[in-house]
Amino acid sequence: MKTIFTEIRLGVRPFELVHATDTHFSYGDARDGEKKIRHAEGRAEVFGAQQELWATYAEATARARKAPIVHTGDLIDFVSLANLERAQRFFAENNVALVTAGNHEFAIYVGDGEKEDAAYRARSLALVQSYYPNDLRFCAREMGGVNLVGIDDGYYRFEPWQLERLKAETAKGLPILLFLHNPLYAPEFHRELMRTRECSFLTGVPDELTKAYPASRLEQQKADEATLQTVEYIRSCPQIRAIFAGHLHLDAEVMLTDTLPQYVTDMGSARIIQIR
Ligand SMILES: [Fe+2]
Repeated sequence: MKTIFTEIRLGVRPFELVHATDTHFSYGDARDGEKKIRHAEGRAEVFGAQQELWATYAEATARARKAPIVHTGDLIDFVSLANLERAQRFFAENNVALVTAGNHEFAIYVGDGEKEDAAYRARSLALVQSYYPNDLRFCAREMGGVNLVGIDDGYYRFEPWQLERLKAETAKGLPILLFLHNPLYAPEFHRELMRTRECSFLTGVPDELTKAYPASRLEQQKADEATLQTVEYIRSCPQIRAIFAGHLHLDAEVMLTDTLPQYVTDMGSARIIQIR
């Protein structure tokens, strides 16, 4: 477990947020059947059964700093009533300013070969959403003169309506901190990730680079027109001052442009965002 301090200078009265991500709660019980119980046991082990420790660490950090939590998804590892109730308890017991969806929020079973697309997400979206405190696919809230905006890009894509909503938020004129599950493409970051992976797991990777991916990864991660447009908009929008993401299960700081930093936070880390 690790605490990271990240200062963001916006010219506002100082306040803090605690960024947590990828908690991957992995519970299942008889209400979802035997198969889900076995799935839960296997999935808990994938992450060394650390999930409660990570959650507790983020919670304790947030309480000590008197700061709300911002969570960028994969709070649950897969859809089950036990997981959704655990998520609900996380929201009830903490001051959670905002939560976005990760790819796992809508996974019925992880790694079952189902293609993760809009139709797949639609199978569980209403149920999952009913346990979460804000719109999982797009939400915005003002805090201390800062607009906190969360967008679901967990399937490596933005949709045109999300870009329109983002434009409406920027029109308000406040500085924006953007919260995503999947980090956005940056050339050097992509190259570094590709050294040890078959793909970079970033949103908005240009076609000339994704064409080197294995076919299933290409289909999963190929950026469509709306996605590339949204990433370009984010990169060039002066109101968007920093991006916070997860998904990769590592800590990183990457400059997307000369002025726009992207902070990726690991599953066991609590990133204290010091806004000034
Ligand atoms: Fe994750």
